[in-house]
Amino acid sequence: MRQKMAAGNWKMNGTGAALAELETLIQAQHAAKSELLICPPATLLSRAAEIAADSSLAIGGQDCHAASSGAHTGDLSSEMLKDAGATAVILGHSERRADHNETSKTVAAKTKSAWSAGLTAIVCLGETLAEREAGDTLKVVGSQLAASLPDGATGQNTVIAYEPVWAIGTGKVPSLDQIAEVHDFLRHALTTRFGAEMAAATRLLYGGSVKPGNAAEIFATSNVDGALVGGASLKSADFSPIIAALDAS
Ligand code: PGA
Repeated sequence: MRQKMAAGNWKMNGTGAALAELETLIQAQHAAKSELLICPPATLLSRAAEIAADSSLAIGGQDCHAASSGAHTGDLSSEMLKDAGATAVILGHSERRADHNETSKTVAAKTKSAWSAGLTAIVCLGETLAEREAGDTLKVVGSQLAASLPDGATGQNTVIAYEPVWAIGTGKVPSLDQIAEVHDFLRHALTTRFGAEMAAATRLLYGGSVKPGNAAEIFATSNVDGALVGGASLKSADFSPIIAALDAS
């Protein structure tokens, strides 16, 4: 069976003072059944990893470069994230795709780099509102999935996060039927390309305005194995009830 997963994406939020929230979360969730991951800004990675060292909370990066080293000012390699204590990295988040012109081809190259450093790649995909309204959702997420995932993906080295762009940070959430339609489609697409065993082992997370108030119904939805949470992962008081809902699902 797939272990449920709750991943928090702090985005560009938090200085050293925010690490107190991490300590609170670790204490509150020491008995959680779900796999827990927090992806703080890179400046906090090694401090966060030290704090989480003796806990079941894992620490991840929010992006990495495709190359292992070189003249790429401002970038970080997957090996550097690993060295700082990360075990996973979010790749292809819609904010990276939009703000940094990342294509699915770039995401695939970064995914290979993450794997070679021993990191789990959390590969994000999702449609814009215009694409949904045009009826293109499955076409868009299908082509993002195909092009963002290199051959060699397994349930251990890869997690998929479906995040409709219009639901991120907006308080808007797709209907449960809409979430189920995409997650069922993704599971089927993984089966077709990688086989039933891989598809059955790969976690499919939903992301976009997951809150304590909507978490339980989202986690009860077909083929949803957890969540990638932005705003509500910044405070233990918000993230903890989401984790509790996932544990209970
Ligand atoms: P949100 O962000 O929970 O704040 O909508 C989700 C994400 O971007 O991963």
